[in-house]
Amino acid sequence: MTPPSTVPADPHSGPEGPTALLPRDYAAAARERLDGPVWDYIAGGSGDEVSLRGDRAAYDRYRLRPRVLVDVSHCELSTTLLGRPVAFPVGIAPMAYHRLVHPEGETATVRAAGEVGALTIASTFASKTLEETARAATGPLWLQLYVLRRREITESLVRRAEAAGYRALVITVDTPRMARRERDLRNGFSLPSHIRPVNLDADHTAGLHRGRSGSSTLAEHSARHHDAAFTWEDLAWLRSLTDLPLVLKGVLTAQDALRAADLGVEGLVVSTHGGRQLDGAVAALDALPEVVAAVEGRCEVLVDGGVRRGTDVLKALALGARAVLVGRPVLWGLAVDGAAGVEQVLSTLQDELAEAMALTGRPRLDTIDRELLNGPSGFANHSITHDRDMA
Ligand SMILES: Cc1cc2nc3c(=O)[nH]c(=O)nc-3n(C[C@H](O)[C@H](O)[C@H](O)COP(=O)(O)O)c2cc1C
Repeated sequence: MTPPSTVPADPHSGPEGPTALLPRDYAAAARERLDGPVWDYIAGGSGDEVSLRGDRAAYDRYRLRPRVLVDVSHCELSTTLLGRPVAFPVGIAPMAYHRLVHPEGETATVRAAGEVGALTIASTFASKTLEETARAATGPLWLQLYVLRRREITESLVRRAEAAGYRALVITVDTPRMARRERDLRNGFSLPSHIRPVNLDADHTAGLHRGRSGSSTLAEHSARHHDAAFTWEDLAWLRSLTDLPLVLKGVLTAQDALRAADLGVEGLVVSTHGGRQLDGAVAALDALPEVVAAVEGRCEVLVDGGVRRGTDVLKALALGARAVLVGRPVLWGLAVDGAAGVEQVLSTLQDELAEAMALTGRPRLDTIDRELLNGPSGFANHSITHDRDMA
């Protein structure tokens, strides 16, 4: 069949017109471009990758129940995260070493996020310093912290984050040790010599560049430096260090969520670390409702892992998330087209969310609720009420 000579305007096509890539195309193009072990480091998960697949599959088990005849001529996506405005409820998850995929690394990523008004969370293991990243940022910026054995390093990162203008600290709590990531072990994955965890001192750089088959230098590094003895009691120490809001990343149960809220933590990220830590963990989306219920609005709850479409964002919001984070798609965009690629990935998600809101009759974020979903175990038992005030 011959294609039509005029193609209707495609809201996903971006500034470059119809040739601009969609997130899935970016994945394919990034895979072609990156060395196999780098691709595997990014794409892979731990163990049998059950959690990696499970995070994604959880989204597909929900179906949407659209409402019709609602005025959706304007859909409002803007919101706040810990009191700061963002253009839409999608942020960039913390990920180590962006320079593995693009020479500009984190500074390109954060510039792109600023262009579209999205949150960025920079990783402790960034390949640009946290100060360089902050200088390139025009949108909200949080810093992710791993608690290291040498507590003075964690403390100095907190001070540097405060001085550089970071607005929150995200403490990753699902990595007392790094899980076995078998792709990396098989590949003998190590960092190329020009890439280092530049936020840390030489002691933390040693050994990262000498790979050998059957081991991952990142896993060995984590075994040496991560503090596996860090507990709730120690969290109080972190709390006492700073007035910056604290967010715990990697919480999957109501019990831990409650404990965090009781300690005055301001935010939670429900996460399996993108299927890279405990393999066989409950899917993040499936853990979300119990966490939301447990904190009763005392914390802002975010979720990540497997978010690839605007409809995924909508489903997470319907289950009570304030926002979602995306990881790998950002690195695909960065690998293929630098800041422009990241911007395209984010704005596609933004456009798709707006479309999903319009097509489900939910023009504002506060109209997105559980009624929007059919649960995984069949049709939800929704009570039928009059909702004249929905629009
Ligand atoms: C290459 C890579 C590096 C990551 N590095 C970190 C990190 O340094 N700190 C952290 O808390 N999470 C890290 N994560 C996990 C992400 O923050 C996030 O939880 C996960 O990628 C979300 O899933 P998604 O990639 O399916 O969107 C990393 C993930 C990837 C893919």
